[in-house]
Amino acid sequence: MAQIRLDKFISERTEYSRSQIKELAAKGKITVDGTAVKRSDTKIDSDTAAVNVCGQELKSSRYRYILLNKPQGYVCSTDDKDGETVLKLIPQEMRTKGMFPAGRLDKDSTGALLITDDGELAHQILSPRRKITKIYIVKLARPFENNYINKFAEGIKLADGETCLPARVKSAENSDKLAMIEICEGKYHQVKRMFAAVGNHVERLARVSLGALILPEKLAIGECMELLHKDVENLFKPQDFDLFYSQFFPVFSANLINNYL
Ligand code: URA
Repeated sequence: MAQIRLDKFISERTEYSRSQIKELAAKGKITVDGTAVKRSDTKIDSDTAAVNVCGQELKSSRYRYILLNKPQGYVCSTDDKDGETVLKLIPQEMRTKGMFPAGRLDKDSTGALLITDDGELAHQILSPRRKITKIYIVKLARPFENNYINKFAEGIKLADGETCLPARVKSAENSDKLAMIEICEGKYHQVKRMFAAVGNHVERLARVSLGALILPEKLAIGECMELLHKDVENLFKPQDFDLFYSQFFPVFSANLINNYL
């Protein structure tokens, strides 16, 4: 039984602030197990309570969702036969038994990685049908060529004959060896193989967003944080590529250079 304040439970799952929740509760707009609860500091059992806000049922989830800023040198696996696993980076108090990485980043890649014990959610994230967009920053061995933009948009044919879904790509304004790419599938070594298919080579790769969930700037490489339910929902929302390019690309690309060169 996990006792938690009602306002904490609601603010972790919605955009309501604590003061808004207090007001809604006072107005009788919040029910727990079918009964209006007028005080937002009331303790509830987060595992079992059926909480309803303005007619909307909120999920009481027992799963944990961790966002890791993966460093180089760790494998996305639960089995350490191929090297140290990313699970080693999760502090004991955040770890649960069935946790695994919901997605793959290569051993030498860095950035946003979701680790969870929610198999159903992981399945949805990994499902090709959901087409969750992912944005990567890459450092290239050779200058970016503008013809990549159309080639990636048309669907790159990989060396093994497989064709990728249309992807967006753009180079940095201040460096022709830095680029940002958005893909919505997860083939093996996909980004590296896409650039290889146009005659280039990826030297560094960092994933900086999963859907609309952006890797927080304050999350240093090797650190992790627990995600709130509303953050998890962001995984399934689209990211605005052009907005991301202008707002975040300069910072993320500077980090990529500073951390690894
Ligand atoms: N594409 C790659 O090539 N490597 C990664 O780690 C992720 C996407």
